[in-house]
Amino acid sequence: MIPSETLADPGYIQVRGLSKTFGETGTGGVLALREIDCTIEKGSFVSVVGPSGCGKSTLLRIVAGLLPPSAGSVVMDGQAIVGTRRDVGMVFQSSILLPWRTILDNVLLPAEVLGLDMRSARARAMELLQLVRLEGFEHKLPRQLSGGMQQRASIARALLHDPKVLLMDEPFGALDAMTREQMNLELQRIWMESGKTVILITHSIPEAIFLGDVVFVMTPRPGALHRVICVDLPRPRGMDVMGSAAFNAAAQEIRELFSHVGSYD
Ligand SMILES: Nc1ncnc2c1ncn2[C@@H]1O[C@H](COP(=O)(O)OP(=O)(O)O)[C@@H](O)[C@H]1O
Ligand SMILES: [Mg+2]
Repeated sequence: MIPSETLADPGYIQVRGLSKTFGETGTGGVLALREIDCTIEKGSFVSVVGPSGCGKSTLLRIVAGLLPPSAGSVVMDGQAIVGTRRDVGMVFQSSILLPWRTILDNVLLPAEVLGLDMRSARARAMELLQLVRLEGFEHKLPRQLSGGMQQRASIARALLHDPKVLLMDEPFGALDAMTREQMNLELQRIWMESGKTVILITHSIPEAIFLGDVVFVMTPRPGALHRVICVDLPRPRGMDVMGSAAFNAAAQEIRELFSHVGSYD
């Protein structure tokens, strides 16, 4: 991350002095986030790692406009975030597909909620199902798909309304290691093809480095931004980068940061 003062372009997402307290400020309240400042460039891929309970999900929910900050602000594309916005898509840890709806109808859900034109939404849904390599599965029910396929459908759904920003909260946490690696390759491809700005929360250091242009490392609660690690590896990255010296240096740096703060998830 480049300090925002030195940039002519102020950055696509600017987080300034962001704090969040749940409950009463002072006694009884939980200070979840403490004075976070960061800048996220348009089209970049930001990974976020940090100890369990350090406020990663809280940060993402504030950026999504699902939760108001207690202090500070988030500005996206020049506008302060107040409430949910159409230019944001979100993917959660467990794919929250509706079990009684087909994959296509699940992907179409945002179009119904937002009242978009269903004809063009349908065409776009089919394109997205192709992008996430689920063509041929559009009329299946979620339970007929593997966990990885369900998460790919969730990604397609999050992209349906063509958001500029994709927020992902530990999307691959429930997948086995092999499927997860496959999903990392897929996500890199989708990100490169779509040009979205992505913020990915993960508890996997290799996943954070493999996918990220930068890795935000957070401190334990109250979560603050501890360090921003730039990952200078060429794209597209293959699994073989995990053996490179640059990859291992970044992983080592993050592990050392964590070793000072205890366990992480
Ligand atoms: N709605 C809430 N009400 C009260 N406390 C909360 C709420 N959501 C989160 N917290 C607390 O805020 C802290 C950060 O939570 P969270 O953002 O979920 O952390 P992470 O995603 O890094 O595991 C935790 O201590 C959690 O218990
Ligand atoms: Mg979380």
